[in-house]
Amino acid sequence: MNAKPSRYPIAIIRERMNAHEGPVLDFALGRHRDEPSSSVQKLIKNRSYDGSLSASSPDQIKAFSAAAAAMLAQIYKVEVAPQSILPVAGGRPALTLVAASMIKPGETVAIVEPAYPAFERIAVQLGAEILPVPPDPDQGFVPDGESINADALRLVSMTAVNFPNNPTGAVPAPNALRSLFDRLPSWSLVFNDATYGPLTFDGSPWTVFNDVAATFPRLRYLELHSLSKLFGTGPLPVSFLVGEDEEMTALREFSEFASSAQSALQVEVATECLKDTSHLKSLKDHYFQRMAGLGETLETLGFEPLPVSSGMYLMCRVPMVIGEHSVANADEAAQVLLDTWGVAVVPWEIGRNSYLRFSARYTEDELAQLRTMGQGGLVAKS
Ligand SMILES: Cc1ncc(COP(=O)(O)O)c(C=O)c1O
Repeated sequence: MNAKPSRYPIAIIRERMNAHEGPVLDFALGRHRDEPSSSVQKLIKNRSYDGSLSASSPDQIKAFSAAAAAMLAQIYKVEVAPQSILPVAGGRPALTLVAASMIKPGETVAIVEPAYPAFERIAVQLGAEILPVPPDPDQGFVPDGESINADALRLVSMTAVNFPNNPTGAVPAPNALRSLFDRLPSWSLVFNDATYGPLTFDGSPWTVFNDVAATFPRLRYLELHSLSKLFGTGPLPVSFLVGEDEEMTALREFSEFASSAQSALQVEVATECLKDTSHLKSLKDHYFQRMAGLGETLETLGFEPLPVSSGMYLMCRVPMVIGEHSVANADEAAQVLLDTWGVAVVPWEIGRNSYLRFSARYTEDELAQLRTMGQGGLVAKS
């Protein structure tokens, strides 16, 4: 059995924030919402009640898949057939669908760490043997395949990766994955969670179907694009899976058992979002600015943010001291920040190192308040 935490870490942080007496500056999850584009807002406002709640039609699903394929071509320069796309109502339901349809008890699933924790939790529940693949913090947090026993790698049926990475923002060059991917068996499926794919600051948007699939053509690939965070669609979550024929047929057939039909309104909103590729392009600049503002503020307070090349989060090594408090690990540091200053962040242990994850989804007012907290004693010392 794999001994892994059974609580969703974000749920624990939500509980701590709710239990805190007094106001909380939320740098853990982030209160900022990216407004849906005006065309999406108009669609929601003008859509008459009639038909909105009926199940989506095959034509609406076709239009969604065509819009997703066009988005992949425009943003990622990747050509896929619309039949290679399966819409799902949100990121976590898509992770659950992939795991439930593709993992059998006792199979070995390699998980490149750190990563968004949902997939590993679901895989453990399904009875998978987890083979953790640690990152190399000195190589921009890309996986260190050399550290894994070759015999263990030969058993791997699926490798789950999350690039661009949450929490580190790592975006690997294709060759950086060689030490791992060269040693995977050829039947192995690589499943990438590309939720932050469009938000790459130094280069082109990142998908496993770009250079990686070309560099390691003997492996099979499947990818998740969860757009709820990127488009601010709130209770109408948008995501899709894209992959090769065999996997997509298996997922489509399994989803007929495992998923309810999405409503017409949901699929129409999702399609409208996907057509708005200019939003995805401007979002990258938007988060680049937000990260810069956050980084400057954290440096003013004595934190040392790591360089970041994608996403919505900034990582800082846990300092030795915050204010008057010595802190020994990430959880202690996060607790001190919340208890003493009402600042919520996500603690993260990666290998032997402790980090704090600050979200760039802050409100401007929260950032301004954080900036003044040095005067109230919030000073980090390494
Ligand atoms: C990398 C990653 N994958 C998946 C998800 C889950 O997406 P959703 O909120 O649509 O369930 C998140 C949410 O934060 C994420 O960061």
